[in-house]
Order: sequence, then C-alpha cells, then structure tokens
Amino acid sequence: MLARPARLAVFASGNGSNFEALAAAAARDVLGGSIVVMLCDRPGAPVLDRARRRGVESLTPPVGRFRSRLEDEQPWLHLLREREVDVVLLAGFMRRLHATLLAPFAGRMLNVHPSLLPAFPGLDAIGQAWRHGVGVTGCTVHLVEDALDSGPIVAQSAVEVRAGESRESLEERIHDAEHALYPWAVRRFLTEPWRLEGRRLVFGEGAGFRLNETEVARDG
Ligand code: GAR
Repeated sequence: MLARPARLAVFASGNGSNFEALAAAAARDVLGGSIVVMLCDRPGAPVLDRARRRGVESLTPPVGRFRSRLEDEQPWLHLLREREVDVVLLAGFMRRLHATLLAPFAGRMLNVHPSLLPAFPGLDAIGQAWRHGVGVTGCTVHLVEDALDSGPIVAQSAVEVRAGESRESLEERIHDAEHALYPWAVRRFLTEPWRLEGRRLVFGEGAGFRLNETEVARDG
C-alpha cells in the first residue's frame, strides 16, 4: 500500500485543457494522486482561471529574461519542495527546463505532446504533421529528459487523419485523445510497477518499484 497518494504539480502555459482533464480525473479520484499546485509561466493565461475554478492553488513564479526557457529555476524548485511534490506533470508548458529542475525530478516528471514522438517534436506539432500529410498521428506521454520533447515513452494514442480533414478538425481530435490519454497514463505510471530497459519504459507486476512509495520513503 502507498504511504500516501502522490502529490502532483502541473506546469502549464496557456489554455489549460490538459490541466482540466487531469484535475477532473483527480476530482473523480482516478488520477492516482492529487494536484497540489499549478505553476504557470504566463500571468493572465486561461489555465489560471481553470485552476481557480477547480480550487487548485495556482502561482506564477518569476521566469527571467528568456522566452523559451526558464532562466532561474530555483524559485520553481523551492515551491515544489515546500509543497512536498512527488511528481511534476507538464501540460502545455512551453519552456525548456534544465538541470536545476530536471535532476531532482529525474524519473518523476511527465510531459504530453500532440504527436507520435519521436515524430514532430517542438512547436505546432499538429500543424507539422498535417502539413507533412501523414496518415496517422496522435499524442504521447513521456518521461522528461534534457532534450526537446524527448524521453522514455509512457503511453501513446494514435489518431488517423481522415481524407480531406482540416487542420482544425485534426487538432480537435488530437486534443480529445490527449485528454483521455494523459490522466490514464499518469494513473498507470503512479500505481503500477515499472522499470526502464534502456529507453523503454516497461510496466509489469514484479518489474520494479512503485514510484511514489520510494519517493515518500526517501523524502520522509
Ligand atoms: C497540448 O496539445 C500539449 O500537448 C501541447 O500544448 C498543448 C496545450 O494545450 N504541448 C506541447 O506541444 C509540448 N511540446 P492546453 O493548454 O489546452 O493543455
């Protein structure tokens, strides 16, 4: 049994529909943990209203001078430590992170990306796939490592592109797939044993440790 449900933080930058899907799952008690804080790098972003409506603490820590990365990750790390966060969930967080945050959360930070990685990393993944003319695309949940939209894959969901489909329609269907996939993947990641075999994340009984038990023991 777990010593306590995992304490989760969500990082988000914009609309926050993935935050909403995660928060809705947490409210239904099917996420495998509770969201204790939402950190946002853009004051005024719609995700802040969503967090307020959901009763989740939301904060906009300083970001520094750069547009695409956090210059000073220390205040962010401090907030996570203060709240005893076990796992960080990136949900439309559009800045690169570096060692200050990545090292302490290695193996404990997930991201969702709207393509079947490693295809189409980076910005506008849905537009990239649509313009490329792929027949199948989708979304990916992966462990975060120090490279753009990269890391061992936790779960993927495929979305077939329909004949003559508009970019807008494809985008809507990929977002729907993300909203179903991300909470499911988080729950699985938090509640089932898993191990890494090289880059491959393998689930299975007896395969390893339960992540949040280990972390709670280490923190406690
Ligand atoms: C989502 O499609 C998410 O996968 C993507 O940003 C969107 C945020 O939407 N993230 C990335 O592209 C990360 N590289 P949301 O704010 O409504 O959740």
